[in-house]
Amino acid sequence: MLADVSALLACPQCGDGLDPVERTLVCSRGHSFDIARQGYVTLLTGTATKFTGDSPEMIAARCDFLDAGHFDPLMAAVSDAVVQSTPDDVAPRVLEVGAGTGHYLARVLDASSPSAQGIGLDVSKPAARRLARAHPRAAAVVADVWRQLPVLGGVLTHVLSIFAPRNAAEIDRVLAEDGVLVVLTPTDRHLYELVELLGMVRVDDRKVERLGETMAGRFERDHRTPVEVTMMLSRRDVDHLVGMGPSARHLSAERRAEAIGALPEPFPVTASVVVSTYRRASTSR
Ligand SMILES: C[S@@+](CC[C@H](N)C(=O)[O-])C[C@H]1O[C@@H](n2cnc3c(N)ncnc32)[C@H](O)[C@@H]1O
Ligand SMILES: [Zn+2]
Repeated sequence: MLADVSALLACPQCGDGLDPVERTLVCSRGHSFDIARQGYVTLLTGTATKFTGDSPEMIAARCDFLDAGHFDPLMAAVSDAVVQSTPDDVAPRVLEVGAGTGHYLARVLDASSPSAQGIGLDVSKPAARRLARAHPRAAAVVADVWRQLPVLGGVLTHVLSIFAPRNAAEIDRVLAEDGVLVVLTPTDRHLYELVELLGMVRVDDRKVERLGETMAGRFERDHRTPVEVTMMLSRRDVDHLVGMGPSARHLSAERRAEAIGALPEPFPVTASVVVSTYRRASTSR
């Protein structure tokens, strides 16, 4: 719930803390942000963001696919990374950037102490609507990861970036001194069967390398867990998987239906990712 995590949030205009007052969050200087009927708050500044994030169709497809459980091993690796990097007497305070439907954040909160708290941040309003229902201890915030994050400095134990953009400088600001960044990135084998078959957008082979570069100087990698599984997918699952990614925007509906209709059932598809944990260069061990 928003009211529970509002002590972690910051006004996007002046950076002060926010307090819940009826159906709004208000800072000490009087900047006020309405809590939407669906339970999320938009913490964007005046200038419009050029990002719109995932569409309602992409979010619905993602929700259906994640509910079917095929990415459970990926979620387990992320929640293990958080649990293993949390000291016994600490309740995690977790921000997921580009949180989408909030499935990963909910899994992390379920696996952590009952007083763990979460913030799911996404620039997409359809995502925020789902996020607001993802977990009783998670709050949903609409914001742009490429701007100042609407979170107070040094208050978080963990930041998650799962198949999502990340802004190292801001993550550095909001993490506590011994905070941990958990990043899930696809390898070049991720969904390769569909890349070949449907011309889905190929994962940039240098993405993992570039990640290392952008973190350079701020964070050092602590652990690296490769996860690779073969998922046995129905045509419906494949349709959701294609629909939840950027290929949905490039592939015509006819071409997609035709290609998926011709697949054997079940169809084996590889999920291949790396879950990495990073700590500040000065505190990594
Ligand atoms: C591939 S999805 C991953 C969602 C979720 N982490 C998961 O793995 O299920 C990427 C998410 O990042 C969001 N996103 C893209 N650009 C963003 C931005 N500039 N600021 C915040 N979120 C953004 C999209 O709306 C989308 O929900
Ligand atoms: Zn303010």
